[in-house]
Amino acid sequence: MAVCVDMELVAKDAYKAARRGDVIVVIDALRATTSIVASLANGAKSVTPVVTLKEAANLRKEHPDYLLVGEREDHKPKGFDLGNSPAILAREPLQKKNIILTTTNGTKALIKSKESKWVAVGSFLNARAVAEKTLEISRRNATGISFVLAGERNRFSLEDFLCAGAITERFPKNALELSDKTSAALLAFKGAKGNLLERIQNSKHGQHLMERGFNEDIEFSCHTDIYAIVPFYRNGKVEAVA
Ligand code: MLT
Repeated sequence: MAVCVDMELVAKDAYKAARRGDVIVVIDALRATTSIVASLANGAKSVTPVVTLKEAANLRKEHPDYLLVGEREDHKPKGFDLGNSPAILAREPLQKKNIILTTTNGTKALIKSKESKWVAVGSFLNARAVAEKTLEISRRNATGISFVLAGERNRFSLEDFLCAGAITERFPKNALELSDKTSAALLAFKGAKGNLLERIQNSKHGQHLMERGFNEDIEFSCHTDIYAIVPFYRNGKVEAVA
């Protein structure tokens, strides 16, 4: 039977995907889900997403050895160890570290998806691995797959849509029944992939990050299929599944 692939364009609608019983793929390509994938691929043990700075601080009090990572208004909050920079998280010594992560949109999108039994963390970095793993789970459990795009304060973000298209392109062609939103993402990605970096630099969030000096993060976030891990958000934390 063909697997239905659908999409929620903004984080607040994650509950719809969870209600369908779908395997969810949360995407915040610039930069939160890319940061999670980069951290775990770089040896971190877990990432615990939280919504507020206060929650982050309280959790750190309980676990003084955990690293505090995240952003507010794009930058590292006061007292944090690292910002939400996937390029930096990919090269910092993170072996066996547990991370507490709070960002403006991406961590919220994950937490809003928590009613689903399977919440995978997607990015360009692990697009192929996510396609393979989520298809395997959905076939085994006779469910659909839904992308949940984090967006920007509940507004649509082009880079998340293109990333959903990249993952969709990696599903075997005859295995799927795509919703119109998912077909549109696939068409958009096929049109953009020849100059993906430029397309993403020209997106609203891309421009915003470029103006603030985060071009390295955009470049890094566009590297496609460099990691084979699929992180899953379960029981409050994200851990990698090879
Ligand atoms: C977010 O979660 O809102 C983003 O990752 C923001 C960013 O750091 O670019």
